[in-house]
Amino acid sequence: MSIHQPGLEYAIQQDDLDELSDYRSKFHIPKDKNGNELIYLCGNSLGLQPKATKGYIDQELSDWANLGVEGHTEAKNPWLPYHEFLTENMAKLVGAKPIEVVVMNTLTANLHFMMVSFYQPTKTRYKILIESDAFPSDKYAVESQLRHHGFDDKEDLILWHPQNNEELLHYEDLEAILEEHGDEIALIMIGGVNYYTGQFFDLKRITQLGHENGCMVGFDCAHGTGNVILNLHDSGADFAVWCTYKYMNSGPGSLGACFVHERHANNTSLNRFTGWWSHNKQTRFNMRHEFDVLSGAEGWQLSNPPILSMAAIKASLDIFNEVGIDKLNKKSKKLTGYFEFLLNQISDESIRIITPSNPKERGCQLSIQVKNANKNLHDKLTKSGVISDWREPDVIRCAPVPLYNSFEDVYKMVEKLKNILDE
Ligand SMILES: Cc1ncc(COP(=O)(O)O)c(C=O)c1O
Repeated sequence: MSIHQPGLEYAIQQDDLDELSDYRSKFHIPKDKNGNELIYLCGNSLGLQPKATKGYIDQELSDWANLGVEGHTEAKNPWLPYHEFLTENMAKLVGAKPIEVVVMNTLTANLHFMMVSFYQPTKTRYKILIESDAFPSDKYAVESQLRHHGFDDKEDLILWHPQNNEELLHYEDLEAILEEHGDEIALIMIGGVNYYTGQFFDLKRITQLGHENGCMVGFDCAHGTGNVILNLHDSGADFAVWCTYKYMNSGPGSLGACFVHERHANNTSLNRFTGWWSHNKQTRFNMRHEFDVLSGAEGWQLSNPPILSMAAIKASLDIFNEVGIDKLNKKSKKLTGYFEFLLNQISDESIRIITPSNPKERGCQLSIQVKNANKNLHDKLTKSGVISDWREPDVIRCAPVPLYNSFEDVYKMVEKLKNILDE
Protein backbone atom coordinates (compact mmCIF):
# COMPACT_ATOMS: atom_id res chain seq x y z
CA MET A 1 0.00 0.00 0.00
CA SER A 2 1.25 3.44 -0.90
CA ILE A 3 1.88 6.04 1.78
CA HIS A 4 0.37 8.61 -0.59
CA GLN A 5 -3.21 9.53 -1.45
CA PRO A 6 -4.78 11.02 -4.55
CA GLY A 7 -6.52 14.42 -4.54
CA LEU A 8 -5.52 18.05 -4.16
CA GLU A 9 -6.36 18.08 -0.47
CA TYR A 10 -3.59 15.58 0.27
CA ALA A 11 -1.05 17.68 -1.70
CA ILE A 12 -1.97 20.81 0.25
CA GLN A 13 -1.75 18.88 3.50
CA GLN A 14 1.75 17.63 2.61
CA ASP A 15 2.88 21.18 1.82
CA ASP A 16 1.58 22.30 5.22
CA LEU A 17 3.56 19.51 6.89
CA ASP A 18 6.73 20.23 4.90
CA GLU A 19 9.37 21.88 7.12
CA LEU A 20 11.19 23.17 4.00
CA SER A 21 8.12 24.74 2.34
CA ASP A 22 9.22 28.30 3.21
CA TYR A 23 12.27 27.96 0.95
CA ARG A 24 10.02 28.31 -2.10
CA SER A 25 9.52 31.98 -1.19
CA LYS A 26 13.29 32.49 -1.37
CA PHE A 27 13.21 31.84 -5.15
CA HIS A 28 11.85 33.74 -8.14
CA ILE A 29 9.17 31.47 -9.63
CA PRO A 30 8.62 32.28 -13.33
CA LYS A 31 5.11 33.47 -14.23
CA ASP A 32 2.92 33.31 -17.32
CA LYS A 33 1.78 36.47 -19.09
CA ASN A 34 -1.22 36.76 -16.78
CA GLY A 35 1.04 36.78 -13.75
CA ASN A 36 0.26 33.21 -12.64
CA GLU A 37 3.14 31.09 -11.36
CA LEU A 38 4.27 28.44 -13.79
CA ILE A 39 4.78 24.87 -12.64
CA TYR A 40 8.53 24.80 -12.98
CA LEU A 41 9.89 21.23 -13.10
CA CYS A 42 13.06 21.99 -15.02
CA GLY A 43 15.67 22.43 -12.27
CA ASN A 44 17.55 19.52 -13.87
CA SER A 45 18.25 21.87 -16.77
CA LEU A 46 18.38 25.36 -15.26
CA GLY A 47 17.70 25.94 -11.58
CA LEU A 48 15.65 28.93 -10.45
CA GLN A 49 17.15 32.17 -9.22
CA PRO A 50 17.39 32.61 -5.45
CA LYS A 51 16.12 36.08 -4.48
CA ALA A 52 19.35 36.56 -2.49
CA THR A 53 21.56 36.20 -5.57
CA LYS A 54 21.10 39.77 -6.73
CA GLY A 55 22.43 41.12 -3.43
CA TYR A 56 25.55 38.95 -3.65
CA ILE A 57 26.24 40.12 -7.22
CA ASP A 58 25.41 43.75 -6.39
CA GLN A 59 28.01 43.63 -3.61
CA GLU A 60 30.71 42.75 -6.15
CA LEU A 61 29.44 45.31 -8.68
CA SER A 62 29.55 48.06 -6.09
CA ASP A 63 32.99 47.00 -4.84
CA TRP A 64 34.20 47.06 -8.43
CA ALA A 65 32.59 50.51 -8.97
CA ASN A 66 34.06 51.92 -5.77
CA LEU A 67 37.41 50.19 -5.58
CA GLY A 68 38.46 49.26 -9.10
CA VAL A 69 41.52 47.03 -9.02
CA GLU A 70 41.86 47.47 -5.25
CA GLY A 71 38.86 45.17 -4.93
CA HIS A 72 41.22 42.23 -5.40
CA THR A 73 42.33 42.76 -1.82
CA GLU A 74 39.96 45.40 -0.37
CA ALA A 75 36.49 44.21 -1.49
CA LYS A 76 34.20 43.01 1.29
CA ASN A 77 34.87 39.54 -0.10
CA PRO A 78 38.33 40.05 -1.63
CA TRP A 79 38.51 38.75 -5.18
CA LEU A 80 41.97 37.21 -4.98
CA PRO A 81 40.90 34.40 -2.66
CA TYR A 82 37.19 34.51 -3.69
CA HIS A 83 37.05 30.87 -4.82
CA GLU A 84 38.18 29.83 -1.34
CA PHE A 85 34.93 31.23 0.10
CA LEU A 86 33.10 28.53 -1.86
CA THR A 87 35.29 25.55 -1.17
CA GLU A 88 34.12 24.38 2.23
CA ASN A 89 30.39 24.48 1.47
CA MET A 90 30.89 22.94 -1.96
CA ALA A 91 32.99 20.15 -0.46
CA LYS A 92 30.28 19.49 2.13
CA LEU A 93 27.62 19.33 -0.57
CA VAL A 94 29.44 16.64 -2.58
CA GLY A 95 30.86 14.73 0.38
CA ALA A 96 34.49 15.67 -0.16
CA LYS A 97 37.34 17.22 1.80
CA PRO A 98 38.03 20.90 1.07
CA ILE A 99 41.47 20.01 -0.34
CA GLU A 100 39.72 17.86 -2.98
CA VAL A 101 37.40 20.54 -4.42
CA VAL A 102 37.75 23.66 -6.52
CA VAL A 103 35.22 25.84 -8.38
CA MET A 104 36.61 26.81 -11.78
CA ASN A 105 35.95 26.89 -15.54
CA THR A 106 32.90 25.21 -17.04
CA LEU A 107 31.88 21.57 -17.05
CA THR A 108 33.16 20.23 -20.37
CA ALA A 109 36.35 22.28 -20.05
CA ASN A 110 36.93 20.73 -16.62
CA LEU A 111 36.32 17.27 -18.00
CA HIS A 112 39.14 17.86 -20.47
CA PHE A 113 41.45 19.24 -17.79
CA MET A 114 40.78 16.20 -15.63
CA MET A 115 41.46 13.90 -18.56
CA VAL A 116 44.83 15.57 -19.09
CA SER A 117 45.73 14.19 -15.66
CA PHE A 118 43.68 11.01 -15.47
CA TYR A 119 43.58 9.74 -19.02
CA GLN A 120 47.19 8.69 -19.51
CA PRO A 121 47.00 6.07 -22.25
CA THR A 122 49.80 3.58 -22.87
CA LYS A 123 50.34 1.27 -25.86
CA THR A 124 48.34 -1.49 -24.21
CA ARG A 125 45.91 0.40 -21.95
CA TYR A 126 44.29 3.24 -23.87
CA LYS A 127 40.53 2.68 -24.21
CA ILE A 128 37.82 4.78 -22.56
CA LEU A 129 34.55 3.36 -21.25
CA ILE A 130 31.38 5.49 -20.95
CA GLU A 131 27.67 4.74 -20.61
CA SER A 132 26.03 4.28 -24.02
CA ASP A 133 23.60 7.12 -23.39
CA ALA A 134 26.12 9.55 -21.94
CA PHE A 135 25.38 13.25 -22.33
CA PRO A 136 26.59 14.17 -25.84
CA SER A 137 29.13 16.74 -24.62
CA ASP A 138 30.81 14.05 -22.49
CA LYS A 139 30.88 11.68 -25.44
CA TYR A 140 32.34 14.34 -27.74
CA ALA A 141 34.94 15.18 -25.09
CA VAL A 142 36.17 11.61 -24.63
CA GLU A 143 36.13 10.99 -28.40
CA SER A 144 38.31 14.03 -28.93
CA GLN A 145 40.71 12.87 -26.20
CA LEU A 146 41.05 9.52 -27.97
CA ARG A 147 41.78 11.29 -31.27
CA HIS A 148 44.17 13.70 -29.57
CA HIS A 149 46.24 10.76 -28.37
CA GLY A 150 46.17 9.09 -31.80
CA PHE A 151 43.50 6.48 -31.06
CA ASP A 152 40.28 5.61 -32.85
CA ASP A 153 37.20 7.39 -31.48
CA LYS A 154 34.92 4.47 -32.39
CA GLU A 155 36.97 1.28 -31.88
CA ASP A 156 38.65 2.53 -28.74
CA LEU A 157 35.54 3.89 -27.09
CA ILE A 158 33.71 1.15 -25.20
CA LEU A 159 30.03 1.71 -24.48
CA TRP A 160 28.22 0.24 -21.47
CA HIS A 161 24.84 -0.62 -23.03
CA PRO A 162 21.51 -1.51 -21.43
CA GLN A 163 20.08 -4.96 -22.17
CA ASN A 164 17.61 -5.43 -25.06
CA ASN A 165 14.99 -2.71 -25.27
CA GLU A 166 15.77 -1.46 -21.78
CA GLU A 167 16.99 1.97 -20.77
CA LEU A 168 18.65 1.30 -17.42
CA LEU A 169 22.16 -0.07 -17.06
CA HIS A 170 23.06 -3.24 -15.16
CA TYR A 171 26.28 -3.67 -13.18
CA GLU A 172 26.67 -7.28 -14.41
CA ASP A 173 27.13 -5.88 -17.91
CA LEU A 174 29.84 -3.53 -16.68
CA GLU A 175 31.53 -6.47 -14.95
CA ALA A 176 31.37 -8.48 -18.17
CA ILE A 177 32.94 -5.63 -20.15
CA LEU A 178 35.72 -5.29 -17.60
CA GLU A 179 36.34 -9.02 -17.60
CA GLU A 180 36.88 -8.93 -21.34
CA HIS A 181 38.56 -5.52 -21.80
CA GLY A 182 39.62 -4.43 -18.30
CA ASP A 183 43.34 -4.45 -19.10
CA GLU A 184 42.83 -2.27 -22.21
CA ILE A 185 40.74 0.41 -20.48
CA ALA A 186 42.61 3.47 -19.20
CA LEU A 187 39.59 5.46 -18.06
CA ILE A 188 36.00 4.83 -17.01
CA MET A 189 33.96 8.05 -17.20
CA ILE A 190 30.30 7.81 -16.18
CA GLY A 191 27.54 10.37 -15.56
CA GLY A 192 26.90 9.97 -11.79
CA VAL A 193 23.17 10.48 -12.45
CA ASN A 194 22.35 9.78 -16.09
CA TYR A 195 20.84 12.88 -17.69
CA TYR A 196 18.27 10.92 -19.72
CA THR A 197 16.99 8.17 -17.44
CA GLY A 198 17.77 9.79 -14.09
CA GLN A 199 19.54 6.56 -12.99
CA PHE A 200 21.84 7.30 -10.04
CA PHE A 201 24.79 4.96 -10.18
CA ASP A 202 26.62 3.37 -7.29
CA LEU A 203 29.79 5.44 -7.57
CA LYS A 204 31.69 3.34 -5.06
CA ARG A 205 30.86 0.09 -6.78
CA ILE A 206 31.88 1.38 -10.21
CA THR A 207 35.07 2.85 -8.78
CA GLN A 208 35.98 -0.41 -7.06
CA LEU A 209 35.34 -2.40 -10.23
CA GLY A 210 37.43 0.05 -12.24
CA HIS A 211 40.30 0.10 -9.77
CA GLU A 212 40.36 -3.71 -9.48
CA ASN A 213 40.96 -3.70 -13.22
CA GLY A 214 43.64 -1.00 -13.13
CA CYS A 215 41.46 1.75 -14.67
CA MET A 216 41.13 5.37 -13.59
CA VAL A 217 37.53 6.28 -12.72
CA GLY A 218 35.85 9.67 -13.02
CA PHE A 219 32.25 10.90 -12.83
CA ASP A 220 30.29 13.73 -14.37
CA CYS A 221 28.05 14.80 -11.50
CA ALA A 222 26.16 17.56 -13.34
CA HIS A 223 22.85 15.88 -12.51
CA GLY A 224 23.93 14.73 -9.07
CA THR A 225 25.28 17.79 -7.28
CA GLY A 226 22.62 19.41 -5.12
CA ASN A 227 20.26 16.55 -6.06
CA VAL A 228 21.59 13.35 -4.44
CA ILE A 229 24.04 12.47 -1.66
CA LEU A 230 27.29 11.91 -3.51
CA ASN A 231 29.95 11.00 -0.92
CA LEU A 232 32.66 11.63 -3.50
CA HIS A 233 35.57 11.11 -1.12
CA ASP A 234 34.31 7.76 0.15
CA SER A 235 33.45 6.62 -3.36
CA GLY A 236 37.21 6.58 -4.02
CA ALA A 237 36.70 8.08 -7.50
CA ASP A 238 39.84 9.58 -9.00
CA PHE A 239 38.04 12.71 -10.15
CA ALA A 240 34.63 14.26 -10.72
CA VAL A 241 33.30 17.34 -12.50
CA TRP A 242 29.98 19.17 -12.36
CA CYS A 243 28.19 22.38 -13.22
CA THR A 244 26.32 24.80 -10.96
CA TYR A 245 23.45 25.94 -13.17
CA LYS A 246 21.14 22.95 -12.60
CA TYR A 247 20.29 21.91 -9.04
CA MET A 248 22.76 24.46 -7.72
CA ASN A 249 20.72 27.42 -8.99
CA SER A 250 23.72 29.59 -9.86
CA GLY A 251 22.58 30.97 -13.21
CA PRO A 252 22.91 30.14 -16.91
CA GLY A 253 26.43 29.12 -17.91
CA SER A 254 27.78 29.62 -14.40
CA LEU A 255 31.08 28.07 -13.38
CA GLY A 256 31.67 24.38 -12.88
CA ALA A 257 33.70 22.56 -10.27
CA CYS A 258 36.12 19.65 -9.91
CA PHE A 259 36.89 16.97 -7.36
CA VAL A 260 40.33 15.40 -7.29
CA HIS A 261 40.66 12.62 -4.73
CA GLU A 262 42.98 13.37 -1.84
CA ARG A 263 45.41 10.65 -2.93
CA HIS A 264 46.06 12.62 -6.14
CA ALA A 265 45.31 16.16 -4.98
CA ASN A 266 48.75 16.66 -3.45
CA ASN A 267 50.62 14.80 -6.16
CA THR A 268 52.30 17.80 -7.71
CA SER A 269 54.07 15.65 -10.27
CA LEU A 270 50.80 14.58 -11.95
CA ASN A 271 50.60 15.68 -15.56
CA ARG A 272 48.28 18.68 -15.88
CA PHE A 273 47.66 21.85 -17.84
CA THR A 274 48.58 24.91 -15.81
CA GLY A 275 48.29 28.69 -15.67
CA TRP A 276 49.17 31.37 -13.17
CA TRP A 277 46.24 30.41 -10.93
CA SER A 278 47.78 26.93 -10.45
CA HIS A 279 50.86 28.64 -9.01
CA ASN A 280 51.71 28.97 -5.34
CA LYS A 281 49.58 31.89 -4.02
CA GLN A 282 52.38 33.29 -1.88
CA THR A 283 54.71 33.84 -4.83
CA ARG A 284 52.22 34.13 -7.73
CA PHE A 285 52.68 37.86 -8.08
CA ASN A 286 56.47 37.74 -7.95
CA MET A 287 56.03 36.80 -11.60
CA ARG A 288 58.87 34.29 -11.36
CA HIS A 289 59.55 32.07 -14.28
CA GLU A 290 59.90 28.85 -12.30
CA PHE A 291 56.53 27.23 -11.84
CA ASP A 292 55.57 26.16 -8.32
CA VAL A 293 52.27 24.27 -8.38
CA LEU A 294 49.67 24.66 -5.63
CA SER A 295 48.75 21.52 -3.78
CA GLY A 296 45.14 20.33 -3.64
CA ALA A 297 42.46 20.56 -6.32
CA GLU A 298 43.25 24.30 -6.51
CA GLY A 299 46.41 23.33 -8.35
CA TRP A 300 44.26 22.55 -11.41
CA GLN A 301 43.04 26.17 -11.79
CA LEU A 302 44.35 28.18 -14.70
CA SER A 303 42.87 31.67 -14.71
CA ASN A 304 41.68 34.31 -12.31
CA PRO A 305 38.00 33.47 -12.10
CA PRO A 306 34.81 35.45 -12.92
CA ILE A 307 33.74 36.91 -9.57
CA LEU A 308 30.16 37.71 -10.65
CA SER A 309 29.48 34.04 -11.38
CA MET A 310 31.16 33.02 -8.14
CA ALA A 311 28.96 35.48 -6.24
CA ALA A 312 25.87 33.65 -7.55
CA ILE A 313 27.42 30.32 -6.51
CA LYS A 314 28.14 31.72 -3.05
CA ALA A 315 24.49 32.79 -2.71
CA SER A 316 23.34 29.31 -3.65
CA LEU A 317 25.84 27.48 -1.43
CA ASP A 318 24.76 29.57 1.54
CA ILE A 319 21.20 28.28 1.03
CA PHE A 320 22.34 24.66 0.69
CA ASN A 321 24.49 25.03 3.77
CA GLU A 322 21.58 26.42 5.76
CA VAL A 323 19.18 23.63 4.76
CA GLY A 324 21.63 20.73 4.52
CA ILE A 325 21.61 18.08 1.82
CA ASP A 326 20.25 15.42 4.21
CA LYS A 327 16.98 17.31 4.81
CA LEU A 328 16.70 18.10 1.12
CA ASN A 329 17.23 14.48 0.24
CA LYS A 330 14.53 13.37 2.66
CA LYS A 331 11.99 15.78 1.14
CA SER A 332 13.16 14.89 -2.35
CA LYS A 333 12.45 11.19 -1.82
CA LYS A 334 8.96 11.97 -0.57
CA LEU A 335 8.13 14.49 -3.31
CA THR A 336 9.41 12.29 -6.14
CA GLY A 337 7.72 9.25 -4.59
CA TYR A 338 4.46 11.21 -4.62
CA PHE A 339 5.02 12.21 -8.24
CA GLU A 340 5.62 8.55 -9.14
CA PHE A 341 2.49 7.50 -7.25
CA LEU A 342 0.31 9.97 -9.19
CA LEU A 343 1.84 9.06 -12.55
CA ASN A 344 1.28 5.38 -11.85
CA GLN A 345 -2.43 6.13 -11.27
CA ILE A 346 -2.78 7.30 -14.87
CA SER A 347 -4.51 4.47 -16.66
CA ASP A 348 -3.13 5.46 -20.06
CA GLU A 349 -0.93 2.62 -21.42
CA SER A 350 1.27 4.99 -23.33
CA ILE A 351 2.89 6.40 -20.19
CA ARG A 352 5.91 4.71 -18.64
CA ILE A 353 8.45 5.97 -16.12
CA ILE A 354 11.92 4.88 -17.22
CA THR A 355 13.73 6.19 -14.12
CA PRO A 356 14.50 3.47 -11.53
CA SER A 357 11.66 2.89 -9.07
CA ASN A 358 14.15 2.29 -6.24
CA PRO A 359 14.57 5.70 -4.52
CA LYS A 360 18.24 4.85 -3.82
CA GLU A 361 18.89 4.66 -7.56
CA ARG A 362 17.52 8.04 -8.54
CA GLY A 363 17.42 11.70 -7.53
CA CYS A 364 14.39 13.93 -7.92
CA GLN A 365 14.05 13.59 -11.72
CA LEU A 366 11.52 11.25 -13.30
CA SER A 367 11.82 10.59 -17.01
CA ILE A 368 8.43 9.81 -18.49
CA GLN A 369 8.33 7.95 -21.75
CA VAL A 370 5.23 8.66 -23.82
CA LYS A 371 4.92 5.94 -26.44
CA ASN A 372 4.13 7.09 -29.97
CA ALA A 373 4.14 10.70 -28.83
CA ASN A 374 5.86 13.49 -30.62
CA LYS A 375 6.99 16.81 -29.26
CA ASN A 376 3.41 17.98 -29.66
CA LEU A 377 2.49 16.58 -26.27
CA HIS A 378 5.34 18.43 -24.63
CA ASP A 379 4.33 21.65 -26.40
CA LYS A 380 0.79 21.26 -25.02
CA LEU A 381 2.16 20.71 -21.56
CA THR A 382 4.24 23.87 -21.85
CA LYS A 383 1.21 25.83 -23.08
CA SER A 384 -0.73 24.60 -20.06
CA GLY A 385 1.86 26.19 -17.77
CA VAL A 386 4.18 23.25 -17.01
CA ILE A 387 7.87 23.84 -17.68
CA SER A 388 9.62 20.49 -18.21
CA ASP A 389 11.98 19.28 -20.87
CA TRP A 390 11.68 17.04 -23.85
CA ARG A 391 14.37 14.61 -24.99
CA GLU A 392 14.10 12.90 -28.33
CA PRO A 393 12.65 10.49 -29.21
CA ASP A 394 9.83 10.37 -26.63
CA VAL A 395 10.83 11.35 -23.12
CA ILE A 396 9.64 14.18 -20.88
CA ARG A 397 12.01 14.86 -18.02
CA CYS A 398 10.52 16.43 -14.90
CA ALA A 399 12.39 17.31 -11.74
CA PRO A 400 10.41 18.33 -8.66
CA VAL A 401 13.18 20.15 -6.81
CA PRO A 402 12.82 19.96 -3.02
CA LEU A 403 14.11 23.51 -2.47
CA TYR A 404 11.32 25.23 -4.38
CA ASN A 405 8.76 22.75 -5.72
CA SER A 406 5.64 21.85 -3.79
CA PHE A 407 3.39 18.81 -3.60
CA GLU A 408 0.75 21.04 -5.17
CA ASP A 409 3.05 21.67 -8.18
CA VAL A 410 3.36 17.93 -8.66
CA TYR A 411 -0.37 17.34 -8.28
CA LYS A 412 -1.26 20.04 -10.79
CA MET A 413 1.31 18.84 -13.30
CA VAL A 414 -0.14 15.32 -13.31
CA GLU A 415 -3.69 16.69 -13.65
CA LYS A 416 -2.64 18.71 -16.70
CA LEU A 417 -0.85 15.73 -18.22
CA LYS A 418 -3.99 13.57 -17.71
CA ASN A 419 -6.17 16.21 -19.40
CA ILE A 420 -3.86 16.36 -22.41
CA LEU A 421 -3.74 12.55 -22.72
CA ASP A 422 -7.55 12.42 -22.53
CA GLU A 423 -8.00 14.90 -25.37
C1 LIG B 1 25.85 15.50 -18.00
C2 LIG B 1 26.28 16.75 -18.70
N1 LIG B 1 27.53 16.82 -19.22
C3 LIG B 1 27.94 17.93 -19.87
C4 LIG B 1 27.11 19.03 -20.06
C5 LIG B 1 27.62 20.22 -20.79
O1 LIG B 1 27.89 21.24 -19.89
P1 LIG B 1 28.67 22.59 -20.26
O2 LIG B 1 27.96 23.22 -21.41
O3 LIG B 1 28.56 23.41 -19.01
O4 LIG B 1 30.08 22.21 -20.57
C6 LIG B 1 25.81 18.99 -19.52
C7 LIG B 1 24.89 20.13 -19.72
O5 LIG B 1 23.73 20.11 -19.42
C8 LIG B 1 25.38 17.82 -18.84
O6 LIG B 1 24.13 17.72 -18.35
